[in-house]
Amino acid sequence: MNKAYANRMEKVRPSAVGELLMLGAQPDIISFGGGYPAPEVFPVDKLSSVFADVMSQSGPRALQYSTPEGLLSLREKLVLRMKQSGISCDLDNLFIIQGGQQGLDLVAKMFINEGDVIVTESPTFMGALIAFNPYEPVYKTVPMDEHGMDMDALEEILRTNARVKFIYTVPEFQNPTGVTMSLERRQRLVELANQYDVMILEDSPYREIRFQGELISPIKSFDTEGRVIHLGSFSKILSPGLRLGWVVAETEIATKLCLLKMAADTQNSTLNMYLADKFMEKYNMDEHIQSIRVLYKEKKETMIEAVRQYLPSTVSYTNPEGGLFTWLTFPQHVDATTLMRDRLLPEAKVAYVPGSTFFPVDEEVNHCRMNYSGASKENIIKGVAALGTILKEYC
Ligand SMILES: Cc1ncc(COP(=O)(O)O)c(C=O)c1O
Repeated sequence: MNKAYANRMEKVRPSAVGELLMLGAQPDIISFGGGYPAPEVFPVDKLSSVFADVMSQSGPRALQYSTPEGLLSLREKLVLRMKQSGISCDLDNLFIIQGGQQGLDLVAKMFINEGDVIVTESPTFMGALIAFNPYEPVYKTVPMDEHGMDMDALEEILRTNARVKFIYTVPEFQNPTGVTMSLERRQRLVELANQYDVMILEDSPYREIRFQGELISPIKSFDTEGRVIHLGSFSKILSPGLRLGWVVAETEIATKLCLLKMAADTQNSTLNMYLADKFMEKYNMDEHIQSIRVLYKEKKETMIEAVRQYLPSTVSYTNPEGGLFTWLTFPQHVDATTLMRDRLLPEAKVAYVPGSTFFPVDEEVNHCRMNYSGASKENIIKGVAALGTILKEYC
C-alpha cells in the first residue's frame, strides 16, 4: 500500500536516544533520565476527597462537555495567580490546555510556515522541537551561560535573519540545563523582540518550583505590545496525569489559538478541570507547592553533593535554584550516548538523558541531563557514585 504521508511526516521520526531511554526505564535501572515529578508529592488523598465532592455536588456537569476555553472558575483562579505573578491579563487572555506541550503544538501550528526561523536556547527542551519540527522551521540557536541566553548573540541573529517568527525560551530552571534567565536579560529580551518585531514563546512549567534564590518576574510581565505568549502547567505543581496547563496571550492570539485547540481536541477533560478547580478551592495550593519545593531542594542538594564527591573534577555541573534537572558537562572527548550505552547501562544499571538530543543544530555530545526529582536520595548517591567510577576509568 502506498502510504502517502504528508511531507511534514519526514520530520516526525523516533530518535536513537528514544530507544536508549526505553532501556533506561526498566525497573532494575537507577534512572536519572525521566522528567517525572516525585510520585510522593502527588496529593492522592486530597484529590480523592475532591473527586468525591465533585461527584456529589456537580457530577452531571463534571461529566458533560464544557467549552474549549475551559472551566470558567478555574480560569478565574488562574487569572488571579497570573496577576499575582506580575502578568496583567483577563479571562479573554487565558484558556486551558492539555499541559504546556499542547501550547507548544498550537503555537507551532499557528505561526510556523516552512522555512521560518525559530530561535531557541542551545540546548533546548526536546518536546518543543518535537512540536515545532513538523512545520519545518529553520532553527537558529543562542548560546547560554549561567544567566540564560546570550543577548548579544540573540541580537545578531535577529539583525541578520528577516524570517524570525518567534523566540522560544524556558526561562526558569530550564529543561535540560536547570539555568534561569536573569531579570536584566528578560527585560532586554522583550526590548529586542519589540525592536525586531518578533514574538516570544515563554514556556514556564517550573516557575513555581523555586527552592532557593529570588523569584524573578515572568517575561510576559514586561510585555507592553502583546507579543509574549506565556505557557503555564499543573504538571509539576499538581499532577501531570491530569493533563492541565494554560496559555496567556493577547486577546486575538488567544482566540485564534483556542480555535486551533477546538479542532484538536474540543476541550480539556471537564472532570479534570473540576478536580483542579475544587482542589484549589478546598486546599491551599501554595502550601502544597511549598511541600514540593522542600522535597526537591533536599534531592537537588543530595545530587549536587554526590556530583562533587564522586565525579572527576573535569566534569562541570549546573546548580539549579529550582526545577528538576542538573546538566553535566564531561570532558570534550566523552560522548555521553556511547558512555551510557556501552558502559553505564550494562555495568552500573544507571541512566541519564544524553545531551545531544537537546540541540536543534550543532549537536554537542559531551553533556547529559540528570533528573533528581524521580529517584530516592539513596539511589541518587548510589547512581552518581557508579557514574563516577565508570567515568574515572573511561577518562
Ligand atoms: C520545558 C517544558 N515545557 C513543557 C513541558 C510539557 O509539560 P506538560 O505538557 O506536562 O505541561 C515540559 C515537560 O517536561 C517541559 O519540561
